[in-house]
Amino acid sequence: MALWGGRFQSGSSDIFKAFNDSLPFDHVLVHQDIQGSIGWSKAIQKAGVLSIAEQQQLEQGLLDLAAKVENGEVDFSESSAEDIHSWVEAELTLTLGDIARKLHTGRSRNDQVSTDLRLWAREQVDMLIKTLTLCVQELLNLADNNKQHILPGYTHLQRAQPVRFAHWCLAYVEMLKRDISRLEDARVRLNQSPLGCAALAGTTYNINRYELAESLGFDGPCMNSLDAVSDRDYVLDLLFAASTGMMHLSRFAEDLIFFNSGEANFITLGDQVTSGSSLMPQKKNPDALELMRGKTGRVFGSLQALLVTLKGLPLAYNKDMQEDKQGLFDALEQWSNCLVMMKEVVNSIELNSAACQKAAREGYANATELADYLVSKGVPFRTAHEITGAVVLYAINERLPLESLRLDEFQQFSDLIEEDVYPILELEYLVDKRNILGGTGIEPVEKVIAQNRHQFGSA
Ligand code: ARG
Repeated sequence: MALWGGRFQSGSSDIFKAFNDSLPFDHVLVHQDIQGSIGWSKAIQKAGVLSIAEQQQLEQGLLDLAAKVENGEVDFSESSAEDIHSWVEAELTLTLGDIARKLHTGRSRNDQVSTDLRLWAREQVDMLIKTLTLCVQELLNLADNNKQHILPGYTHLQRAQPVRFAHWCLAYVEMLKRDISRLEDARVRLNQSPLGCAALAGTTYNINRYELAESLGFDGPCMNSLDAVSDRDYVLDLLFAASTGMMHLSRFAEDLIFFNSGEANFITLGDQVTSGSSLMPQKKNPDALELMRGKTGRVFGSLQALLVTLKGLPLAYNKDMQEDKQGLFDALEQWSNCLVMMKEVVNSIELNSAACQKAAREGYANATELADYLVSKGVPFRTAHEITGAVVLYAINERLPLESLRLDEFQQFSDLIEEDVYPILELEYLVDKRNILGGTGIEPVEKVIAQNRHQFGSA
């Protein structure tokens, strides 16, 4: 019988039951439901609802149930329970009999489900932070191993100025660090206990909510029962963190797909993360990266879906809120899978340094240097920019890079240009001139790698 069967004269239709049940997906919360129930049993024992012996019996029954699940002895699809909360109670009743029917005293599935989901979310946050840390370490390795190599940096997908490949790696390290800090922020807000708020108005039993919250590892109890049972901000926080994290992975994937293209040829991806074509024998496709980019869409979708679900919901709990789970489960799983994949991809990258170097030299990436050179000789920057533009146009017509122009050619545009212009047009020189903190010069790049190593350790 359903948990609420007493008031009903006939059972649910099969169609309604299949539509309403959440066990097919919320069974994921089984361990959290058991953990929360053990906490609750202790709280109601102290409130005088259960004797010490009864509490111990319930706790043992719940632990045995957890072990059964852990040992793979449970098939949720065989159960007709409505949701994970009903399932746990039904199983407990099978083994312990009537005493199990005392467990739900003073509690509602409304405070229970949000407690379970917060406990689950907290574990996921901790696992995701670990996975993100592994990715940071792997990117630091890639940066460290390729510190000397230079490739074109782009704006508008046009070659702009050369940068160290390590600097490109470190850009993604910064993004992953923000992803970690977003999860840490979200963890603070989610780590509040709804237990004791009951259906919406608060329980009548004399529960010490602080003690109960603490026993489940929460920082404290939620302070308003109406809010506590209808708040899903913490799910939105995580969906936003996942969406932003996936957006970063998608940009990372896009950069690498381009670097790996025949046109750029800056990197070679390992065989272990690529696949072939059934028709074209020569192909080696960056499927892992394309899937990372592709899965980003469904994660954004889950954020949007829950925002729309919650918009306009009256206080307090409404069944609409059962729709919070599948999107969250999927989004965090995709994010985690993509991070694991990212680490594998990073580990497989071989840099084609000669192609990078060649491309970095092409496209007049050193034009800014020539303008700065003129500035150093007293020319106002705007004028220097115009002169350099004219030199570039000349060089394009001659099909020559700037550093191959003769001095007399340079001097047609400005007689301030002298022999000392040539070294400043060299790739390493112009990259290492950017030794400003946060820049692409070797000094700041090495410093940032070292700082991150200190914070995150080595893989
Ligand atoms: N399966 C429900 C959910 O996920 C549990 C809460 C049910 N509460 C209720 N009053 N029907 O939201």
